[in-house]
Amino acid sequence: MIQTNNFACHNIHLETERLKLRPFKDADFDIAIPFYRDPEFLSAIEESPPDKPITKEYLKKAGKFMRDSGFLFAIVEKASGRTIGEVCLQWMNLDRAKIEGEKIMRLPIGIWDKTLWGKGYGKEVVRCLMAHAFEKLEIDRFCPVDVPVDNIRSRALWQSLGLTITREVDDGEILDYEITRSEYERIYLK
Ligand SMILES: CC(C)(COP(=O)(O)OP(=O)(O)OC[C@H]1O[C@@H](n2cnc3c(N)ncnc32)[C@H](O)[C@@H]1OP(=O)(O)O)[C@@H](O)C(=O)NCCC(=O)NCCS
Repeated sequence: MIQTNNFACHNIHLETERLKLRPFKDADFDIAIPFYRDPEFLSAIEESPPDKPITKEYLKKAGKFMRDSGFLFAIVEKASGRTIGEVCLQWMNLDRAKIEGEKIMRLPIGIWDKTLWGKGYGKEVVRCLMAHAFEKLEIDRFCPVDVPVDNIRSRALWQSLGLTITREVDDGEILDYEITRSEYERIYLK
């Protein structure tokens, strides 16, 4: 693991038109807690939300899992300087989505403040991290997985970026999306 002074243990800084992606810090969990206590955000981001109020320890446990299997970022709004969400470019950890000999990544994302949903921020973040994954990390396939069929925003996000449904799980309750390297190059690098 790279020596850093941040929770995420990496030093990658990326930028889009309106956002910055920087390594996730311990203090970011404190900012996240009130948003995780909003039932609408919690049920969108967590497959099985806990009954008890979300604590920093709970978020750190999930955060550790993500940072140990990928690159965990805080999403910062440039105009306000506010930290508005989290995203992890994560190596594929589900057997059903692994392919022998391929480098595959998934991408859990949450914009904490729901007043900021639907403004194109999610798309900006994912576009930027897809480029990093395909063009710098040289992945073969990008596969956001475990998308609840009723999460309209998440589904619209993946679809708007050219991803397609590759698999239905749990009788169609859960969807896995993907874009292959050749599709990515056709859409984005021509
Ligand atoms: C899912 C999430 C990351 C999407 O980010 P966002 O900033 O709200 O989405 P964007 O504004 O970038 O929209 C992306 C696309 O989805 C479409 N979209 C957004 N909200 C929509 C809605 N409610 N209904 C239909 N389409 C919608 C947009 O029009 C856009 O498509 P377009 O570029 O073709 O017009 C964000 O809403 C979020 O963090 N939600 C809570 C956590 C969550 O659900 N995470 C995913 C778990 S699987």
